[in-house]
Amino acid sequence: MRIAVLGGTGPEGLGLAARLAQIGESVIIGSRSAERAEEAARNLREKLPQGSLAGTPNAKAAADAEVVMLAFPYEGIDVILADCAAPMNGKVVIDTIVPLKVVSKFFTVEPPEEGSAGERIQARVPSAKVVSAFKHQSAQHLIDLDHRMEGDVLLCGNDEAAKTLVADLVTRVARFDRKLGPVDPKKAMFRIYRDTRFSKDKTPYKTHFSAAIRERAKKGLEPGYYFHIDQHGVLVAGGGIYNPDPPTLGRIRRYIVKNPGALTRVLREPRFKKTYGRLAQEEALARPPKGFSADAPHIDAIKLKHYFGIVEVDLMKRPPKDLAGVIAGYFRDVVPLMEWLRRAVKETR
Ligand SMILES: NC(=O)c1ccc[n+]([C@@H]2O[C@H](COP(=O)([O-])OP(=O)(O)OC[C@H]3O[C@@H](n4cnc5c(N)ncnc54)[C@H](OP(=O)(O)O)[C@@H]3O)[C@@H](O)[C@H]2O)c1
Repeated sequence: MRIAVLGGTGPEGLGLAARLAQIGESVIIGSRSAERAEEAARNLREKLPQGSLAGTPNAKAAADAEVVMLAFPYEGIDVILADCAAPMNGKVVIDTIVPLKVVSKFFTVEPPEEGSAGERIQARVPSAKVVSAFKHQSAQHLIDLDHRMEGDVLLCGNDEAAKTLVADLVTRVARFDRKLGPVDPKKAMFRIYRDTRFSKDKTPYKTHFSAAIRERAKKGLEPGYYFHIDQHGVLVAGGGIYNPDPPTLGRIRRYIVKNPGALTRVLREPRFKKTYGRLAQEEALARPPKGFSADAPHIDAIKLKHYFGIVEVDLMKRPPKDLAGVIAGYFRDVVPLMEWLRRAVKETR
């Protein structure tokens, strides 16, 4: 989708432009000056070489885009809309503008007579589908692409389809695990056929469906997210590394010994602790593995053969309205472990 960010040379617009380009949208930065627009796009391309980023004057940006985002100060509404209202006709317009005024050296919100910046814009461009969003997402966090954007984004608007479109952008922009490489949804699903060669159960089909969300190219040597739902409606969800090969397992164990505090921090991280409690204990060794002392820090973790967190929930007890959201919530809570594992599997000595 082509998205214009009018006033995109300022901190808020630049941050949003960067996040949108990062999720694969085609971004056109608008400005009152063609040079400033081009320079801003050039600078962002250095940060995001694969991003689709261009810069043009505001009116052309609005004309060339399918969605128009307004990211300039409140005082600019009338001036900019004088040029840009016509090219915005019928389009989804995302309003990020907070009507601020400086009173006695302090910023205060001063809503216009229409009620809000969004309503003022709607009054100036009646056919636009105005959605107010990102009003309290700080420019500083947006431009720091490693910063995990958390919290709610309030959406206001009268057009349901436009709000759905913006909600989708918000969700994708707030992706909670930026280090997860490209995932192919078709390859994420496990086959429904049971591998009867290695299973005591010789029935031909599984009675659950399951998926692993990870960068497939890494062949299980990097952590991934996993869930399955069985025929009784039991959901099992979590993430980590299951059955790592011996070199990977050795790296994880050595990383624990070398850097015990890093694992302590994961296990104490409030969301991980609340959802998962601890690392799953499946197939843990009874004695320390060869080369590791019984009094090594986190010896219980060193004895593990798999490193993952897992939750089990009976969905039939209280069927969730938003199952995908529930599963994504569990995945979000296992991110500290995922990040720790990514560092651990790179351990060389
Ligand atoms: N900064 C934040 O953390 C934040 C958070 C939430 C919402 N917002 C909202 O997002 C909007 C942009 O914030 P910002 O901090 O990026 O603002 P900004 O730096 O003051 O302005 C952004 C861009 O708008 C253009 N501009 C400035 N004054 C203008 C005027 N009078 N008329 C028309 N264009 C003008 C400039 O671009 P050109 O000179 O290149 O045209 C400027 O680079 C604001 O409405 C703000 O309330 C900001």
